[in-house]
Amino acid sequence: MNLVPHAAQAKENLNPDAHPTPALSAAQRSNLSPVTAWGYAWWRARSLRLLGAPGFTLEREATLFRTLCRPQPGQRWLDVGTSAGFYAGVLARAGAQVTAADLSPAMLAVAARREPSAAITWVNLNVEASGLPDASFDGVTVGATLNETHDPARLLSELERLLRPGGQLWLMYLRRTAGPVQALLARPALGGLTFPDPAWVARQLPGCVRVDGLGVGAAQFDRFERRVAEGNVTL
Ligand SMILES: C[S@@+](CC[C@H](N)C(=O)[O-])C[C@H]1O[C@@H](n2cnc3c(N)ncnc32)[C@H](O)[C@@H]1O
Repeated sequence: MNLVPHAAQAKENLNPDAHPTPALSAAQRSNLSPVTAWGYAWWRARSLRLLGAPGFTLEREATLFRTLCRPQPGQRWLDVGTSAGFYAGVLARAGAQVTAADLSPAMLAVAARREPSAAITWVNLNVEASGLPDASFDGVTVGATLNETHDPARLLSELERLLRPGGQLWLMYLRRTAGPVQALLARPALGGLTFPDPAWVARQLPGCVRVDGLGVGAAQFDRFERRVAEGNVTL
């Protein structure tokens, strides 16, 4: 596995040089466990159907992504919170060069075994404060990591910074339904999950335009494009 660890990483602080240091939600901490990592691919294959998107298989999700985003050979993509490597694998098979980031070394170990591709670089990193250069990527995929990250506004702002002008941001997340289960899972002790409203997500990305949006049950799929500045005008 070509895993690139972040310098001086620690479980509670994977970006010691970032200011302020990102905190971790209970859901993020649970993903550090090898047991969670071991079972994650099984859960992911069923999760959307169990969480209100009946009939929505992983293959359908991959087809939707490929159809709308059309990843091209040689493009640089970042997969944020890769877990078992689902989007990283789809991207590598499309010929893209993939940086697959996760704050859980256990998840990265599982993903590297499931998706053994030389096109994928596995990186142990908290993407809320990645330290990566501006405009590093042609595209970014975020499969449900928005629900689990400690500070989704901070993550979205960072992703906008990492996209090149004209680059694409693909988001899959469970959106707000105002149901009692979501209210429970949002409690810090029970996960600290966030179930964002699509309009709120769009407001966190002022440098991007939402070009596609699709709701399937509670699952939301959004495609944004980074605006291109021409002269003094941002289009
Ligand atoms: C819901 S799972 C992601 C599933 C995966 N993207 C997919 O589509 O199959 C969330 C993953 O994101 C990781 N994660 C959460 N917050 C993160 C962050 N700020 N930076 C990097 N990884 C993060 C967790 O460790 C976990 O593996």
